[in-house]
This record gives sequence, C-alpha cells and structure tokens, in this order.
Amino acid sequence: MIIRNDAQLAGLQRTGKLVARILVAMQAHARPGMTTLELDDYAGHLLSQAGAESAPRQCYDFPGHTCISINEQAAHGIPTARVMHADDLINIDVSAVLDGYFADTGGSFVLAPYNQNTHLKQRLCHAALSARDAGIALVRTGQRLNKIGHHIERTIRFAGFCNVRTLCGHGIGTMLHEEPALRNYFDLRDNQTLQDGQVITVEPFLSTNVSRVHLSDDGWTLLGRPHSLFAQFEHTLVVRNGRPIILTLP
Ligand code: CO
Ligand code: CO
Repeated sequence: MIIRNDAQLAGLQRTGKLVARILVAMQAHARPGMTTLELDDYAGHLLSQAGAESAPRQCYDFPGHTCISINEQAAHGIPTARVMHADDLINIDVSAVLDGYFADTGGSFVLAPYNQNTHLKQRLCHAALSARDAGIALVRTGQRLNKIGHHIERTIRFAGFCNVRTLCGHGIGTMLHEEPALRNYFDLRDNQTLQDGQVITVEPFLSTNVSRVHLSDDGWTLLGRPHSLFAQFEHTLVVRNGRPIILTLP
C-alpha cells in the first residue's frame, strides 16, 4: 500500500511492533526438545492476546500461525511434531493483521546450547542480516527496485553464499503480499521505483549451496537439497518523506 496520512502510519507501526515482539518472544521461548507446533502455539496465544490474526492463516489458510523452517527448509515451514535440537538453524517468520494493517518480519538463529561447531550457521545468519540491512540502506523515494536487489545480491556473493533468487520481498499493508515484487538481484527489465508512502518488505534468503528452492510434498514447505542450510531476515518498512522508517522493531 501507499500511505497518505499519520493514522495509516500509526496503524502499520502497531502491527509492526507486535510481530517484532512476537518474533523476539518466540526466539527466547524456543528450547531443544520442543516441537515447532508447541512454539507456534505460543505465538498463537500471543497473537490472540493482542487481538491480532495470523496473516498467512487469514490470507492463504496456512496450517499454523507462523512459519518455522529448520536447517534444510528454506521457508514456509509448517508447524509440526518435529523436535528442535541444539545447533539447529531455525528461521521464524511472523506476519499478522491488526485493525486491517499487515506487517511481516522474520529472522534466523542457531538454537542454543551449541554443542558442535556452529561457525558456518552463525556466519550464514550474519550474512543474511547484513544483506537485508544493505538493501534497506538504499531505500529512498525514487530509488530503482533493481538497484536495491543488485546491492543485496552483491553483499551475499561477497560473503561467499548463494542467493535464493526464487524468493523475494514484496509490497504489504492492506494485504500480506502486494505489488511490487522486490527481487533480490538485478533485473534489467524491472524499471519500477519506490514511491513516497510505499510500504514494502526487504527479505533476502541466503543458502550454503542452492539458488532456487522447490515445494515439498506437504504442499507448503520450500526445500533446497538434503544438506542445504538457509537464513533469512525480514523487515517491513515505509518510505516516508523520502527516507525509510522500519516498522518491525520491538
Ligand atoms: Co515474512
Ligand atoms: Co515477507
């Protein structure tokens, strides 16, 4: 959406703060031995306490409140009886709607206590965070979307990881996924620019060994190869008076 007034900004900020706080709470709540279903139930409780609804559930009938993707799962992991273990690389993506305003955030982390060498997983998380923030640093009114994507991909390659080109950022606000798509690479044919008031997500997906993902048999989870690892960080932001305001801060 393109916002026109302060009331719309305030509405988006309320949802943004909520999803950011739920993400932090879920990361703190996660323990080895817990199932992803148990972790998602906790998020469901926090959402209903706030009077909000899960966005993927409302928009797509997603079988869960949040997406929880582990190790070889790239994204859109459905909450199940899968047990989380120490050293697992876990991605949680939280998106919700509150009073008609949508916001979307996500982050990856390695589940403590670490009992093996987690260096590669930690490095992948750090590179994903850097790539997202490199993209956000170029957000301003009139900026070409493909220039942001180009900078994100260069950051990922410089860190030595693969850019998952089949996943991208998106417009958001009155729906979970709106136009435009924000591809995380340079698309020569994309001549779109950011407008003042535009609400978008920036969310690169990095992998140790694949640049595309495929749908698993469960119909939701996106997978790479059997030993792939993935990390993603996501913020929702609005371009306001030329500059970005990050909405998904706790
Ligand atoms: Co998301
Ligand atoms: Co998103």
